[in-house]
Amino acid sequence: MTILVTGGAGYIGSHTCVELLNTGYDVVVVDNLCNSKEEVLHRVKKITGKELKFYKVDLVNKAELTEVFRKEKIDAVIHFAGLKAVGESVSKPLEYYYNNITGTLILCEVMMEFGVYNIVFSSSATVYGNPATVPIREDFPLSATNPYGRTKLMLEEIFRDLYQSDRRWNIVMLRYFNPIGAHKTGLIGEDPKGIPNNIAPYITQVAVGKLDILGVFGDDYDTPDGSGVRDYIHVVDLSIGHVKAIEHIQHNPGIVVYNLGTGKGYSVFDLIKAFSKACRKDIPYVIKPRRVGDIAACYAEPSLARKELHWSAQRDLDEMCEDAWRWQSNYPNGYQNDKEIL
Ligand code: NAD
Ligand code: UFG
Repeated sequence: MTILVTGGAGYIGSHTCVELLNTGYDVVVVDNLCNSKEEVLHRVKKITGKELKFYKVDLVNKAELTEVFRKEKIDAVIHFAGLKAVGESVSKPLEYYYNNITGTLILCEVMMEFGVYNIVFSSSATVYGNPATVPIREDFPLSATNPYGRTKLMLEEIFRDLYQSDRRWNIVMLRYFNPIGAHKTGLIGEDPKGIPNNIAPYITQVAVGKLDILGVFGDDYDTPDGSGVRDYIHVVDLSIGHVKAIEHIQHNPGIVVYNLGTGKGYSVFDLIKAFSKACRKDIPYVIKPRRVGDIAACYAEPSLARKELHWSAQRDLDEMCEDAWRWQSNYPNGYQNDKEIL
């Protein structure tokens, strides 16, 4: 069975390619490398000892995408490709709507032309906006506070409309909480461009000496220690969730949505402590004002995925931090490595 992975050179996509190959699927990656490097795919091959096919194609280029479907016999698609920086989406809304929405529309059109109706879509916990209570269930009200979040919300609606129009579609929408960590080998991991927006890569870059100090965005939230609480999930657990979704789609027609989270909330200070333990260094930090748009607490009720996908997260916060640190200390400059350890 052949899985097309859009955005397969990215952070979550590359880890998912590893799990798919290890499970025995054939993998075809489509990525325009706007936020990734081809090197990651060589590392995926090294980790798994298996081949995968790569096409440097932009999803908005219908002719090139069609060519991929003509050459490969695709059975299902895992759709990661998209722009994901919340702040950037506020300053470049058209870029985000064009890339994320148009790219997905073209992907679905081409899939239909080739009779491929199975898709797993990367949604996000951001679609819950500011939830009234935690843990968050899949049936909670949805809202978005920025263009990035709106693309996820709109795409979920578009997928529902698509399913209504043609019941041949089988769609699994996965709402990720906060993916962190890296593959156990330390060969692949998160490689953000420029100064990281997200906390985990920021902390690892402080630990490795690339950044001086972490800003903690607010210590006056209504949470146990005053800092923001999130559901950090190991990227490998998240990737295994996609393999489960591909298994699910083959036996359960329809459209479904699942939270992929651990169900546990950790504060910024918990995370700093766990990283300090993993890298055996103090992480210097300074308390800063709250970041605009942030919420106090966000963590999943993950039981639906446990029941229906037969999936639950296995790796704890210490393991997430140890694995993230292994990757960052092996490759301080990410895929532009200055140290070859293969
Ligand atoms: P990433 O940026 O590392 O990976 C996305 C990949 O898609 C990149 O390799 C990029 O080059 C590619 N891409 C973007 N636009 C493309 C296009 N038009 N055509 C072809 N390739 C394109 O991001 P990630 O963290 O791996 O996230 C993957 C998906 O999961 C995204 O859709 C993201 O919105 C979603 N998500 C991520 C998080 C997170 O915190 N990382 C949380 C929730 C949801
Ligand atoms: N934080 C800091 N300092 C930093 C960065 C973050 O204190 O330098 C805090 C935030 O205030 C928040 C927590 O760390 O309390 C996590 O922040 P991240 O930026 O790492 O993650 P978010 O929860 O804000 O958002 C992430 C993705 C979104 C996605 C969401 C849910 O960036 O795209 O998880 O999946 F929608």
